[in-house]
Amino acid sequence: MAKLSKTRNTLGENARLASVNLLNAALADLIDLSNAVKMAHWNVKGPQFAALHLLFETFYDQLAEAVDDTAERVVQLGGTPEGTTQQVGAATRLAAYPADLKDGIKHVTALAERYAALATTTREAIDAADEAGDADTADLFTATSRTLDKALWMLEAHLG
Ligand SMILES: [Fe+2]
Repeated sequence: MAKLSKTRNTLGENARLASVNLLNAALADLIDLSNAVKMAHWNVKGPQFAALHLLFETFYDQLAEAVDDTAERVVQLGGTPEGTTQQVGAATRLAAYPADLKDGIKHVTALAERYAALATTTREAIDAADEAGDADTADLFTATSRTLDKALWMLEAHLG
């Protein structure tokens, strides 16, 4: 982890460093998941095409906002967002998204698994940021966690 840039933000350096690491880990997963959602949006086929194509687009828009908020908080704390394709590919904790999926329910299942995984590490990040003394980063993770949980509910509703 590179040294943090100077800032007038009075949050302690240890807290900022802890949060930058948590945020960059989340950033990789969020970008990976947003790419998976776009793959599902493009490749989905079957009788639920219209509904799922639109739902996945909505998910993408939500994740794009979470990605931006996460990366910008890294910079606010004096860090550097690690968001290149290569950095994301090396850092993501999500299972690789299958490139050949077509069936709508298979996309829903594959996305549900990844939303659940990211929701889990996001909840852990809420506690870790809180323990580091950065309530604002904990709050950012809390907002992301709510978004992920809501999407997971919508995905699981398709699975009965
Ligand atoms: Fe589109």
